[in-house]
Amino acid sequence: MPDASAALRVVIMASGNGSNAENIIRHARLYPHEIDVRAIVCDKPQAFVVQRSASLGVPCFVVPFAGDKVAHEEAIDSVLRQNNAQMILLAGYMRILGASFVAKWRGKIVNIHPSLLPAFPGRDAYRDAFQAGVAQSGVTLHYVDEGVDTGPVIAQQSFSRLPEDTLEAFRARGMEVEYKMYRNFIDTLVEKEKENDRRSASY
Ligand code: GRF
Repeated sequence: MPDASAALRVVIMASGNGSNAENIIRHARLYPHEIDVRAIVCDKPQAFVVQRSASLGVPCFVVPFAGDKVAHEEAIDSVLRQNNAQMILLAGYMRILGASFVAKWRGKIVNIHPSLLPAFPGRDAYRDAFQAGVAQSGVTLHYVDEGVDTGPVIAQQSFSRLPEDTLEAFRARGMEVEYKMYRNFIDTLVEKEKENDRRSASY
């Protein structure tokens, strides 16, 4: 019988700096009975997130891309299973996940994207929104489907572009929104876990 009191097992996938990954890990640590960030999966051996994971004491599984997307995602899938993952949080993971991977984890993969989707999908939404001269941009948290930044939206939050903004200032404002949104999402997961625990305790 599954242990209903066990924490939700989360794996983060990241490709770069890892500031979202660190934010998620630090926030989840406030709720050790509800959320267990088991590991980070990274596709880039040189990424700073690999060093962050070491300083945070979270195992990092580096799975470099070697030219075959299916083989790459099968290797990631086996890391996720080895860690008994129940939820995958994408935090600056810069590859598009393939259909067979998405099918295996549907409804369990969450991504953060720095625009008000469907506006500005793609790799550098801060740059694209900034160059388009928007007065308001935002951040979208969404489930991942087979498309590029198209899955069901969980939450959106907007932020302003100020007239004097440089791209860096605009991006920095958005990143703060990203961190807040992932923290809020973790809070909702925590509430669900607590609710599950209350239900199973009352049987
Ligand atoms: C974030 O802006 C994320 O939304 C985007 O890539 C960036 C990753 O930053 N997909 P970090 O690696 O979490 O610092």
